[in-house]
Amino acid sequence: MSKLWGGRFTKKTDQLVEEYTASILFDKELAEEDIQGSLAHVTMLGKCGILPEEDVDKIKDGLLKVQGMIRRGELEFSISDEDIHMNIEKALIDEVGSVGGKLHTGRSRNDQVATDMHLWLRKRVVEFVGLLNKVQEALIEQAKQNLDTIVPGYTHLQRAQPILFAHHLMAYVSMFQRDIERLQESYKRVNMLPLGAGALAGTTFPIDRHFVAQKLGFDGVYENSLDAVSDRDFILEFLSNASMIMMHLSRLSEEFVLWSSTEFRFIELDDAFCTGSSIMPQKKNPDVAELVRGKTGRVYGNLFGLLTVLKSLPLAYNKDMQEDKEGMFDTVRTLQGALQLYAPMIATMKVNKDRMRQAVNQDFSNATDIADYLVNKGMPFRQAHEVIGKTVLYCIQNQKYLLDLKLEEFHQFSKLFDQDIYTVLQPESVVNARNVYGGTAEAQVAGAIERAEAALAGS
Ligand code: ARG
Repeated sequence: MSKLWGGRFTKKTDQLVEEYTASILFDKELAEEDIQGSLAHVTMLGKCGILPEEDVDKIKDGLLKVQGMIRRGELEFSISDEDIHMNIEKALIDEVGSVGGKLHTGRSRNDQVATDMHLWLRKRVVEFVGLLNKVQEALIEQAKQNLDTIVPGYTHLQRAQPILFAHHLMAYVSMFQRDIERLQESYKRVNMLPLGAGALAGTTFPIDRHFVAQKLGFDGVYENSLDAVSDRDFILEFLSNASMIMMHLSRLSEEFVLWSSTEFRFIELDDAFCTGSSIMPQKKNPDVAELVRGKTGRVYGNLFGLLTVLKSLPLAYNKDMQEDKEGMFDTVRTLQGALQLYAPMIATMKVNKDRMRQAVNQDFSNATDIADYLVNKGMPFRQAHEVIGKTVLYCIQNQKYLLDLKLEEFHQFSKLFDQDIYTVLQPESVVNARNVYGGTAEAQVAGAIERAEAALAGS
């Protein structure tokens, strides 16, 4: 079969070139958007008097038939037609005859492909906000169940200060909230129409770009035709937002892996979200969490891949830009998979409150609080720090925790200690003493949960 662009050529394309340059194997993903864009384009050609309405009707009918064939899996895509745009145009011409050849009037594949990508990606951006909301919901629900669950908080992965487990989970709700805001904020740049830019310079036909934009639900049209066909910032921005989401998921994954280890035993992931070992019968592995952590690499890779493709590319369209697709599709699939699994995995995870409590009782994470106690009794903080450092050392040498010390033992380090130290040192007191906005005190965390739930309900 001859090429849609065959006129200038005297030879057949080399078979290997055809295979190497074709994108149909992956850009068939854009079929729906390609037809959607073509329907709007041809409607505009009719409205502007560029094509007679009867041609427009024939082309529209034909496009809808091709759409049906694609949906039913009846259209056989061919590598010799290179990409989704030409496969569809070819199928249209097969369907309606030479009038189908009028569809591409005033249009280039350069502005067409960019339009398809915008249409495709904007849908996903909206979808991801919904998926992130689901993960937030699961985290908030667990936070509500664990409003009185105290767990060691860490810095340097060393026990630091006790916190509410709910507070820890709500940190992720905040992280995902920023991700959502970034996606929402990027939407206005995704929701821009490149069509009408032609190959690079605009078109000689009296088209109406704003009409097409409105038909397709875009907020506006690209200001500059060269920019319209050369811009892939909107994809990079998405890949960067996706990378950040994966980075957040991967930090959470790491915590799930740690917390479900025998050393921690803070949580147990549901059997449905774990897998076993082919040799060790006792194993229950947090594979999903590990894989999400691991797949973060490919999502970063896709971002760097495209940044590198675009680096130094002269304006306007270059074939290099066909490399924008696979990474984007792969990132979307990877992220969808991760978010879809994380909401139920979080919802079904069992929290081992006793074990968390035991951990809190066997550490020195209340040490800051006795330092603060001495400060409240008039000792300068730096001196109090030194005194408590010595007290902790004494405990370690005598295999005790602070709450095990008798008042006389405390007095070896400072006479300022009183009976009330035993209340101050209780994990509940330590947690609730941090009653500052954004802190871990139960009242504060309850407020944070309430605000997050209200934001979710409003979104
Ligand atoms: N398959 C191409 C791509 O994805 C479509 C645009 C081709 N344009 C061209 N002038 N060869 O980039």
